[in-house]
Amino acid sequence: MIKTIGFGIGLVRFANAACTSGDGLEGVCRTRRECARIGGTGSGRCVNGIAVCCVVQKYCGDVTTSNSTYFANPNFPNLYNGGTICTFTIRKLSDDICQARIDFIAFTLAQPDANGLCATDGLTITGGASTVPTICGDNAGQHIYVDFNGNSTIQLNIFTGIAANSRVWNFKVSQIGCDCPTRAPSGCLMYYTTLMGTVRSFNYGTTGNAAMTRQLANQNYGVCIAMQPGYCSINWAQTAGDLYSFTVTGDSPTAVTTGTAGTNAVIGALCTTDFVVIPNPTFTGATPGAANVDRFCGNAFQPLTTNSKPFVLTVVNDANEVGDIGNRGFSLDFTQQRCNNVPVIG
Ligand SMILES: *[C@@H]1O[C@H](CO)[C@@H](O)[C@H](O)[C@H]1NC(C)=O
Ligand SMILES: *[C@@H]1O[C@H](CO)[C@@H](O)[C@H](O)[C@H]1NC(C)=O
Repeated sequence: MIKTIGFGIGLVRFANAACTSGDGLEGVCRTRRECARIGGTGSGRCVNGIAVCCVVQKYCGDVTTSNSTYFANPNFPNLYNGGTICTFTIRKLSDDICQARIDFIAFTLAQPDANGLCATDGLTITGGASTVPTICGDNAGQHIYVDFNGNSTIQLNIFTGIAANSRVWNFKVSQIGCDCPTRAPSGCLMYYTTLMGTVRSFNYGTTGNAAMTRQLANQNYGVCIAMQPGYCSINWAQTAGDLYSFTVTGDSPTAVTTGTAGTNAVIGALCTTDFVVIPNPTFTGATPGAANVDRFCGNAFQPLTTNSKPFVLTVVNDANEVGDIGNRGFSLDFTQQRCNNVPVIG
C-alpha cells in the first residue's frame, strides 16, 4: 500500500514496508498516528524518520485487521496459568488477501495424553477454508498457513485446562495476498520455499514426556515444498544425529531407554495407523522390503528420493497411540536435487 502524507514543504510517499523493531519483532513502517490508530507500538524509525516501525501486539479477545500482528498469552512474556478459552480473530485487511500465515514464535502448551490427544490444552483454528488439526505441546519455530474462506474471519482458539503456570505463546500473524509469490498452494498446512530444510511433526522434541508420547493424534495434513527452478527431485532423510527423528509407530523402547537408534523401518500396507506419505520414492540406501510403496512408519526411515511433483509430504495419525510407546513423531530433512542434464546457472 502506498501512503501519501503531508510533510512540511511537500508530500512524501512511502510503502508500508516490513521493518524490525528495537526488540527484534517484525513490524510495518507506519506514521505514528496510524500506528496508534491500529493499537500498535512504534519503535525505531523508518523512511528517514518520518515513520515508526509499528509492532502490533494483541491478546485474548482481540481482533486484527492489519498485517504482522502478534498474538500472545495474557502477561506475555510471563507464563500463563490457564483455565480459559482464549480466542483471537483475524479479519482480512483487504479483499485481495487469501491466506493467513501463523508463525509460532513461542508455543508451549500442555503435552498430550498417552493417546496423543490434546486433552488439557490445545490450539484449534476455525473459520478458515482448510481444516487445521488440533495441536498442543511444544511448537516454537513451526508455522502453518490457513486459507481464508471468502470474507469470513479466522479464529485462533487456545483452550487451557487445569491451572499450572506453564503456558506461553506468541504467534506472528501475517496476511498473504492472493498474488503474493510466497502464497502457499491452497490446502498446504505448511509450506517451505527453500532448497533444503527440516520438517518436524507438531510437538516433535528431543526430550521425552511423562505420557510417553509426543506424537499428536488425529492429524491429516500436507507439507508442501516449492520446487525451485532447475531442481527436479527431492531427497528425504532422518535428521542426522537425532536418535528419535523417526519414531512414528510401534514401541520406541530402544530409542527411549538405551539411546539406540531405531532400526525398524516399516513401509507400505503395513502402515495403517500413523504414517507419512511421500509419493513414488526411490530408496537411496538399501531397500527395506518391497518396492512400490509410499507410506512410511515404524521407528526408522530409509533415505529416499522422489521426482513426483508437487513436492509434498502428507502426515496421517489416527485417534490414539494403541500399540505405540514412546513415539516422538518425525524430524525429516529435505534437499532438492538439480535436474539431470539441465545446466543451471548460479
Ligand atoms: C467480500 O467483500 C467484498 C466487499 O468488501 C465483496 O466485494 C466480495 O464480493 C466479498 N467476497 C465474498 C466471497 O463474499
Ligand atoms: C504481510 O507481511 C508479510 C511479511 O511479514 C509479507 O510477506 C506479506 O506480503 C504482507 N502482506 C501484505 C498484504 O502486504
